[in-house]
Amino acid sequence: MSGIPRHVAIIMDGNGRWARRRNLPRAAGHRAGGEALRRTVEACRDLGIEILTVYAFSTENWKRPRAEVEALMDLIVEYVRKEREELIRNNIRVVNIGDTSGLPAAARREIESIVAATSQNTGHVLCLALNYGGRREIVEAARALAQKAARGEVRPGEIDEDMFRRHLTTGDLPDPDILIRPSGEMRVSNFLLWQIAYTELWFTPVLWPDFGPEQLRQAVEAYRQRHRRYGGLSLEDA
Ligand code: IPE
Ligand code: IPE
Ligand code: MG
Repeated sequence: MSGIPRHVAIIMDGNGRWARRRNLPRAAGHRAGGEALRRTVEACRDLGIEILTVYAFSTENWKRPRAEVEALMDLIVEYVRKEREELIRNNIRVVNIGDTSGLPAAARREIESIVAATSQNTGHVLCLALNYGGRREIVEAARALAQKAARGEVRPGEIDEDMFRRHLTTGDLPDPDILIRPSGEMRVSNFLLWQIAYTELWFTPVLWPDFGPEQLRQAVEAYRQRHRRYGGLSLEDA
């Protein structure tokens, strides 16, 4: 059986439905989702989870109405400003695996600033997937390797899984041990496609704004009951 997961990834989904059930605008759901993120970061620290990666905005979320995209970007700025001191005080290193260059200037500045301000922190890692898409990440890694090959810096025959992995935006982060998706949807929605090859999946109908320490504890408990075999045999089977 497994111990405490080292790396937890979460698809923060269900904000819109949470708001609709309360007759509130969708932006109110996103705001409540920010509160859930704050609770969850704290709960990860309490449980000794080293890395938390959260899907905050996908490369496909640009398809949403402009007003909703703007509200989300404003909330990202607000979240980082509000949490800044706390993140620094708690020795949390913030990284972003999405494409910051595609974000509006204010959001980009805020993200780049918190990433720089916490880059020397040695405690937990909060990894933001902002303007992130798994397929785009893989294509960009392939392009970077093709460019190196064209310049004669790598030989195509040398390219292996380890080299490819190092060209992904997650770089040296270990793969997630568990992927949590709230809101009842059972799909991956273009999140961490390469990295979740052997990740344990856990779904809950709870909507993201209602997520907190209790749901995280349930997910960790479920994870601890799993037998990860990676294609081999577990001790019980051997
Ligand atoms: C997740 O909540 C937030 C983002 C995708 C940015 P949704 O906005 O997708 O909420 P639902 O799925 O409509 O309930
Ligand atoms: C996934 O949720 C993206 C984030 C939570 C940031 P979506 O709500 O965009 O996913 P689909 O459209 O239901 O697959
Ligand atoms: Mg959704």
